Amino acid sequence: MEYNDLIRTRESIRSYDPARPVEPDKLTLILEAGRISPSAANRQPREFWLISSAPMLETIRECYHRDWYKNAPHILAVVGKKDEAWVRTADGYNSVETDTAIALTHIILAAENEGVGACWIAAFDEVKLRKALDLKENEVVFGITPLGYPVPGFSKKGEKIRKAFQDVVKYL
Ligand SMILES: Cc1cc2nc3c(=O)[nH]c(=O)nc-3n(C[C@H](O)[C@H](O)[C@H](O)COP(=O)(O)O)c2cc1C
Repeated sequence: MEYNDLIRTRESIRSYDPARPVEPDKLTLILEAGRISPSAANRQPREFWLISSAPMLETIRECYHRDWYKNAPHILAVVGKKDEAWVRTADGYNSVETDTAIALTHIILAAENEGVGACWIAAFDEVKLRKALDLKENEVVFGITPLGYPVPGFSKKGEKIRKAFQDVVKYL
């Protein structure tokens, strides 16, 4: 899809058909978009954990209580590695959250480009998620997304509710 159309028509999808897994080649393209995303000092302090197996899905579904989320055939977690991220010397800023956010943005746009629905989720139960994924101390998840096709008959809202251009852009 043309880039401007892609960013204008992408929406968070909160409808998933549990009976329709995403084709492996499409999943690979989507994961590849995460892999090639930029990161501070090219440290690439993140991994992409795709959950599609029934027992793991069952566990990860307990981390966020929405029916639409529970219907997704795949859940993707971008796992950041704090100890691998770039750190700014002057003030100790660690880029892991930024790097994982960029990767997940790449992934969500790539999913849209493949006609696959996604929705950034941050409001998960962090304690349950850590346990479900068996995260190590240096590993952190800021966002997960379901991946899947919407149920038949689903249609997007087709509108972007955003602040006005003049309210968010400054020319200095
Ligand atoms: C950092 C971040 C966290 C989000 N967390 C959630 C969430 O936990 N649950 C949810 O349903 N949507 C979540 N969203 C989706 C936003 O609500 C959505 O992107 C926003 O309302 C704009 O709508 P759009 O994505 O359809 O353009 C999140 C989005 C971002 C960027």
